[in-house]
Amino acid sequence: MKADNLENNSGAVQANISPNEVSVLKFLFANRDAWIMEDQIRIEGLNVREIASSVSWLESKRLIDVNRNEISNFHLTEEGRRFLQEGLPEERAYHLISSRKQLTVSDLMKELGESDGRIALAQLAKLRIKPRNGVVSLDGVPLLDDEFARRRSFLNSLAAGSADLPADMINHFRKRENVIQEHRRIIRSLRINENGIRALSSSLSTGNLLGELTPEVIASGHWKSVGFQPYDLNSRVERVLGSGVHPITYLSRMVKEIFLELGFSEMPGHYIEYAAWNMDALFIPQDHPARDMQDTFYLDTKKKPEMEHPEVMDIFSRVHENGIRGYRGWGYKWSREKASQLLLRTHTTVSTIRYLYEHPEPPQAVFSVEKVFRHESVDWKHLAELHQIEGAYYGKDASLASLKWLMREFYSRLGFRDLKFIPSYYPYTEPSMDVVGTIDGKEMELGGSGVFRPEVTKPLGLKVPVIAWGLGLERLAMIYFGLNDIRDIYQSDLDWLRTYRLRD
Ligand code: PHE
Repeated sequence: MKADNLENNSGAVQANISPNEVSVLKFLFANRDAWIMEDQIRIEGLNVREIASSVSWLESKRLIDVNRNEISNFHLTEEGRRFLQEGLPEERAYHLISSRKQLTVSDLMKELGESDGRIALAQLAKLRIKPRNGVVSLDGVPLLDDEFARRRSFLNSLAAGSADLPADMINHFRKRENVIQEHRRIIRSLRINENGIRALSSSLSTGNLLGELTPEVIASGHWKSVGFQPYDLNSRVERVLGSGVHPITYLSRMVKEIFLELGFSEMPGHYIEYAAWNMDALFIPQDHPARDMQDTFYLDTKKKPEMEHPEVMDIFSRVHENGIRGYRGWGYKWSREKASQLLLRTHTTVSTIRYLYEHPEPPQAVFSVEKVFRHESVDWKHLAELHQIEGAYYGKDASLASLKWLMREFYSRLGFRDLKFIPSYYPYTEPSMDVVGTIDGKEMELGGSGVFRPEVTKPLGLKVPVIAWGLGLERLAMIYFGLNDIRDIYQSDLDWLRTYRLRD
């Protein structure tokens, strides 16, 4: 049917229809005397998906009438295809029995195999062929060749994709196990309605409205002569999940903000360090277990970067071997070689001590939230790569009391009141104090802290006390986000990543 036949239809309707929808409408108009099944629609340049989408839009705009019918498609299963090739087990059994007059059940099983033998017996039983005293015969049984021929031809038509299948055969095979498979689907039948005809005619008289402003349309000047589809600002769109920061980044930013608010400055650092700064500067003896290969990742490289402030090597050597002004030192032979090993920093206290060496004038208040590495076996509360909330205050009023106040203040700004402090030990602090929190009734160490020992501060020219702490960010995250397993933080559970912030 030609488009001009539509021109007579009066009364333009105000429906916005896309070029694809116009094509579908045209197709339905040309076939307007019948219900058209969706998969009968053929439009050049449109694929099945585009047609389906246009049909849905046309339906929602009420320009077509839609009927929904469920239809079933049948396919042969793998076993069905095998039966098609080898013959149905019951038919094969039937021929065997008729050629040998009778057959024992065990012979039949041997001939056909366990599985097909059992199927054959079950199917023959339904055709009134039943074994008696372990023997099957066809005595008094009417000829079944026709029945088997129908079954075979059914399987053949299925394999050939025929849609015209006898209902009794469908029923028969539906009841059998695993020969045919049914796929049900809803198919839409469509008819253009009065509204549709009016919309089509008015859209044909105004010409197709463009849905997209492309560079070509602009460059060619085409835009001047065509109409554009208006936007429907009320149409529903899919929810867009915007990008967001990872929970650890989120928490890390909060932590940084708290320290900034408290007047601290962020200090720099790097992943790779000399053992000298990571350990020796902090008066960790060279035979300390934390230096072990079991606990620390060492770097195997010939090309070492220049060490920052190499003059400290002599200082560390003296302190470790002989101590300093009234403090005895460890009294062993200090090895420059061990101090010159490169490693992945095991804590960010390395940044603190170097920063203070570079800024020996009190007061100093610094922090960082950075990654550290430990050769650790991973479990519910241990990671090998984790973030530490590091910080120090260097001032004449620094004391255990101010340290406790600071820890309480910091955690309370994150909403935690339930904290405990317990005595602890680090080679570089005296006294030392661990911060303990609870999750699910279980107590968990959140980190360590203390007042730097004179063996650490004095040799580097620090004149007044230093209080310092190193707290686990992931441990904090467990309590903050209510996780029972520290590994969940890096499990990338999409649901958690999308919703963690909606929780508080
Ligand atoms: N560096 C210690 C750790 O890795 C924590 C700590 C920092 C302890 C500062 C005392 C002082 O756990």
